[in-house]
Amino acid sequence: RPGAERWVPPDADVGSLREAAPGCRGCELWADATQVVFSAGTDRARVVLVGEQPGDKEDRAGEPFVGPAGGELDAALAAAGLDKDEVYLTNAVKHFRFEERGKRRIHKKPGVAHLEACHPWLEAELAAVAPSVVVCLGATAARAVLGRPVRIGEVRGELLETEGPAGPVRVLVTTHPSAVVRLRGRPEWQEAFDGLVADLRLAAG
Ligand code: URA
Ligand code: SF4
Repeated sequence: RPGAERWVPPDADVGSLREAAPGCRGCELWADATQVVFSAGTDRARVVLVGEQPGDKEDRAGEPFVGPAGGELDAALAAAGLDKDEVYLTNAVKHFRFEERGKRRIHKKPGVAHLEACHPWLEAELAAVAPSVVVCLGATAARAVLGRPVRIGEVRGELLETEGPAGPVRVLVTTHPSAVVRLRGRPEWQEAFDGLVADLRLAAG
């Protein structure tokens, strides 16, 4: 059976998970990516933020959210009064999926099969960190965390609940910071940014 399960050490802390992740062959995405992008932040976080997958910059750096979306997220976290060092940042899928167009690598949304294959890592991270709330950045993260497809417009900003590895976990779905980046320079940007900040503030409690 495909999937990350056999590469995920049982009952592991974040450090052991991070050490094991480069060996994962749970789906085909490892082959074309530069490296696995595991997570950042503290394993003692009350707030876990889940993105979609690493982008081009993250794939090269080996760190999540270091590209344009990361810049927007940093600003939103700061505006919400959340210190980046007090959250745990990860992705639903740990390898960069892309299409080559000439010299450029164009982001390609992970499929449901990739979300499912990579899910054991996310589950192990949630078990290790045991946060009081999980913030899903966008629909892909929400699907991975909630285990069902959701429409952002219908659930965003609401405190939901899901069954986690150690009992019920609070979940908040918000916009992906990339969607905010796309509005830069337009009048709609401010509202989108403020919406993201408001959701992060709610998650921060
Ligand atoms: N977008 C994501 O979803 N995750 C990252 O790590 C970077 C950009
Ligand atoms: Fe493993 Fe996830 Fe990478 Fe696929 S994307 S190889 S499941 S870590």
